[in-house]
Amino acid sequence: MRVHEKRLDILADVAILKKQHKTIGFVPTMGALHKGHLALIERAIKENEVVIVSIFVNPTQFNTSEDLINYPRTLDSDVKLLLSLSEDIILFAPSPKEIYREQITSNSYDFKGLENEMEGKFRPGHFDGVGTVLKHFFNILNPDKAYFGEKDFQQLQVVKKLVEIEKITTQIIGCPIYREQNGLALSSRNKRLNQNQLAVAPLIYSVLKQVKKDFGTKSVTTLNNWVSKQFKNHDELKLEYFEIAKVSNLKPIKRKQKNTKYRAFIAVFAGEIRLIDNIALN
Ligand code: PAJ
Repeated sequence: MRVHEKRLDILADVAILKKQHKTIGFVPTMGALHKGHLALIERAIKENEVVIVSIFVNPTQFNTSEDLINYPRTLDSDVKLLLSLSEDIILFAPSPKEIYREQITSNSYDFKGLENEMEGKFRPGHFDGVGTVLKHFFNILNPDKAYFGEKDFQQLQVVKKLVEIEKITTQIIGCPIYREQNGLALSSRNKRLNQNQLAVAPLIYSVLKQVKKDFGTKSVTTLNNWVSKQFKNHDELKLEYFEIAKVSNLKPIKRKQKNTKYRAFIAVFAGEIRLIDNIALN
């Protein structure tokens, strides 16, 4: 496995691959790799001649310094996991300075309103940070395809908008959410949950599944109220938001319309740890 920390080194590697007309698949991550990440990387291996994985805890997309400081960093075990998939993966693990040089700041993007809903509302500036770092990565790596999980469905939609706005030719590929047997969506943040929190966190997905079941017969208001009730007075889990939104623009709805695709989105706190999930409703 080739591991690069320097922008110039990965640029040189990519230049050779481009000369050889190799197709490049890219999987951006913030590390603390788990099976959800690995599923994306396996798909990239199947569909490309070369796969580049980045591990970079991007400072500009965190909106609290505690979250940035506490974000798990497990580079040694990440490298082992990558090696267990393939020895041919190229790992790019730069420092913030390699990406941002002297100024750790974000560009300001207009993602046509996608950035103002849900995660954008509760994490101001988050998608500017995501857009900025991915623009840097796409510039450096110029990949043919890039892989993103539906776990962060809003991010996936924002990235599709980013490549449209920036006229980036990389094809953006969405991959299904990888879950534990008990339904909990895998996340690097799960590593910070204690035993009690781990035991109750599967409620998040069971609530989403029930909403999907009832979506055809119950009103949006009834479903919203029912979800609030499931978390009201809960000892371990605190609901931050639940929304049923149109897939096309991620705007929350009050009433369903025919021939429109909807998804339900949820964010829940387990103590300090913020968990998100979502489900296709139709
Ligand atoms: P990170 O949270 O490390 O996630 C990297 C990729 O893995 C994202 O596309 C995310 O949606 C996907 N992923 C995470 N958990 C998943 C799961 N359970 N099932 C399927 N896919 C899953 O998302 C980021 O990093 C960052 O915002 C990044 C895109 C790297 C930009 O900094």
